[in-house]
Amino acid sequence: MNLSTNSIHSGTYQSDGAVNTPVYLSSTYRLNEERYAGWAAGAQHTLLYARISSVNSEAVAQKIASLEGAEDGEIFSSGMAAISTVLLGLLSKGDHIVASPDVYGGTYGLMTEDLPRFGIEVTMADIQDPASYEAAIQPNTKMLYSESLTNPTLKVCDLEAIAEIANRHNLISVVDNTFTSPWAVQPISMGHHLVIHSTTKFLNGHSDHIGGAVVGEKELISKVFSKKVHFGGSADPHSCFLLERGIKTLGVRMPTHASNAAELARRLTNHPQIENVIHPSLSNHPDYDVAQRIMPNGTGMLAFVLKGDDQEAMKFMSRLSIIFEATSLGGVESLIEVPATSSHMFVPPEVRLASGIDPGFVRLSVGLEDIEDLWSDISNALDG
Ligand SMILES: Cc1ncc(COP(=O)(O)O)c(C=O)c1O
Repeated sequence: MNLSTNSIHSGTYQSDGAVNTPVYLSSTYRLNEERYAGWAAGAQHTLLYARISSVNSEAVAQKIASLEGAEDGEIFSSGMAAISTVLLGLLSKGDHIVASPDVYGGTYGLMTEDLPRFGIEVTMADIQDPASYEAAIQPNTKMLYSESLTNPTLKVCDLEAIAEIANRHNLISVVDNTFTSPWAVQPISMGHHLVIHSTTKFLNGHSDHIGGAVVGEKELISKVFSKKVHFGGSADPHSCFLLERGIKTLGVRMPTHASNAAELARRLTNHPQIENVIHPSLSNHPDYDVAQRIMPNGTGMLAFVLKGDDQEAMKFMSRLSIIFEATSLGGVESLIEVPATSSHMFVPPEVRLASGIDPGFVRLSVGLEDIEDLWSDISNALDG
């Protein structure tokens, strides 16, 4: 089945003729012979206790796994719960991981502050240069970690090259696909082993859920599952239901997010108040060719740098009326932020600058509003 059909039909648990998965607000399930046997066999996918799994987490995990072309999946209470379970669950003292300073701020903090506390070494490589990932590999390297499109600088990772390096060196390759969604790119089809999502973003798509997902090879997911049970970052059934409902419209939402973003990028390019516009659809984007190859459908994320500093950017945002000044992304409504004062506030300034978060840098998650309304909101705010 294709993505739109899968997003509607795969995973849905139908009972009593309901076309949607009912919300099973039950923390536990009555034990029977089948469940005792499932427990004895490792408990994965067995309805025992909602931290282990629930009807709603199972339904939506299978839906996301099918969208990503993965064998199996697990759902978490947040994107960071998914990321920390993968990193702390699959890596051990003495292991080494290669990642990039361009990863999401929370992931960067986890990698630089917490992994070293547990004796896990981290090397930061250049996400735009797969050769730098390969050069960072050591005898104790276990994992390569990348993001399909970086937050907030929209650097495009050459996922084909990274997967090839990981497989040649027998390493686990993990990709955070939050910024693009499986509508734009499916890393598993390129040879990656695990895909992570902050489902809070495009997958849910309505800014009414916090969650995460990890999908991939059965054997790895079974390890991730056992660590989820220990660390406890499981998602509650109602949140899983909201995620499942949101995913059903992924195939119709994403093209509008992407076309609105590309059109705003084009219009902003020549505006006198704008220093620089960053969107992979623009031919002057440094990774334009990689983007055309890896994710030709594009993205609903857009970034631009205003002339002036972060304070100018904050003033610009305060003049917007349709676009909400808020962190997060991927919802039907457009959301805008200055990363240096919000999502990336705790990333050291020198790291921010080195990765291209210049003064006046603005990140816009382009929603599904009418393009002319969005443009008049932005141009009015730019013109003061
Ligand atoms: C790329 C990326 N990964 C992970 C996360 C963390 O997700 P959550 O906020 O759901 O924990 C975010 C949050 O913004 C993100 O942008």
